[in-house]
Amino acid sequence: MHTQVAIVGAGPAGLLLAQLLHLRGIDSVVLEAKSREYIENRVRAGVLEHQSVAILDAAGVGARMRAEGLLHHGIELQFAGEAHRIDFADLTGKAVMIYGQQEVVKDLVAARLASARPLHFLVDAVRLTDLEAGAPAVHFVSEGRQHRLRCDFIAGCDGFHGVCRPSVPAGVLRAYERVYPFAWLGILAQALPASHELIYARHEHGFALLSMRSPTLTRLYLQCEPDEALANWSDERVWEELQLRLSRSDGLRIPRGPIQQKSVTPMRSFVLEPMQHGRLYLAGDAAHIVPPTGAKGMNLAIADVHVLAQALASYYSGGGEALLQSYSSVCLRRIWKVQRFSWWMTMLLHRFPGDSPFDERRQGAELDYVVSSRAASTALAENYVGLPLE
Ligand code: FAD
Ligand code: PHB
Repeated sequence: MHTQVAIVGAGPAGLLLAQLLHLRGIDSVVLEAKSREYIENRVRAGVLEHQSVAILDAAGVGARMRAEGLLHHGIELQFAGEAHRIDFADLTGKAVMIYGQQEVVKDLVAARLASARPLHFLVDAVRLTDLEAGAPAVHFVSEGRQHRLRCDFIAGCDGFHGVCRPSVPAGVLRAYERVYPFAWLGILAQALPASHELIYARHEHGFALLSMRSPTLTRLYLQCEPDEALANWSDERVWEELQLRLSRSDGLRIPRGPIQQKSVTPMRSFVLEPMQHGRLYLAGDAAHIVPPTGAKGMNLAIADVHVLAQALASYYSGGGEALLQSYSSVCLRRIWKVQRFSWWMTMLLHRFPGDSPFDERRQGAELDYVVSSRAASTALAENYVGLPLE
């Protein structure tokens, strides 16, 4: 078996890369460890930057997002029981789109199947060989049979726990990492979202976030312990804590409804440099992780493969390897800025164990500064809607 680009992982990064390559007439095979049903129902991120929306549109997979997604022109920052709107439209002229990651994945799987190019679910024992040679290979088991897929390039789009990053010999790549001393308890509930825009709230019990997936489906998060057991969080406790942390002087009520999903997400910042070794190119969570406070994880994955697809297209149309060689440095310049923003939003809004009264006052002053200075609000807004791609 041979293909031009072997893509490991069918998350947003792998599936979008497959579609961008297909549109340029480049062959690929996508290998995914889980089932189609599993990846189409995995609840994760929900915010698309304005240029992620444009990339999905240009890839021909934007129609349902345009019809069903919710365009948001601002967010609310809430602290000391008061909400303060950050008006993206006024400050940047741009907006973000609320559209669940699993919906993006569904649209991309549909596009892949329509292209009639290969996408294998439930593959097992994925192994990469000959990364440094001109002809690398991906070995895998599918439907009980062992396969060897030879290719020109491998795109490692298999997320943070995948096999591609650990396939690079030790000592070649450098990782930069910070682990935060808390996690997020996330819930998806069949209930009216309490606000039509996202609310990022700082509270003495910890951070809370109100988001949504549709006018009848709300997505909510609570800062919790890093090793929090879900069993500690009965539905009743979740709703009480949300009401407490999101309460404010105008009497905001959080409507309750059946909880469909509950999960704990650890918080980490991670960057791998460079994002490439030999013929292996890493993209998305395989190469970097951001804490979700800046809503950037899926957007970074989309930006990476946008750059990678252009580099591969240039290679296959006779432009040589120049763009492939600059892939990592072009992506990393922007990734570090997005890392900084995600770290900053996290520091701005969470309670840290051991925070002193001085730290709390300083954090309160920073929030007050952000909402009262047009320059500071603009800095938040331009990062949130998305820094430009080079
Ligand atoms: P993934 O979406 O992780 O896709 C990787 C794919 O590779 C998966 O389908 C996986 O099954 C597959 N795979 C793994 N190993 C192999 C293998 N050996 N062989 C073949 N396939 C393999 N971001 C936010 O902004 N907000 C959130 O609320 C949020 N919540 C999250 C919750 C969780 C539990 C996680 C893990 C991430 C969350 N993120 C969130 C981050 C965001 O979802 C990711 O940044 C985004 O999914 C990155 O896309 P990706 O395609 O790089 O990786
Ligand atoms: C979400 O809707 O899942 C979401 C929104 C904003 C974030 C993180 C997650 O910062």
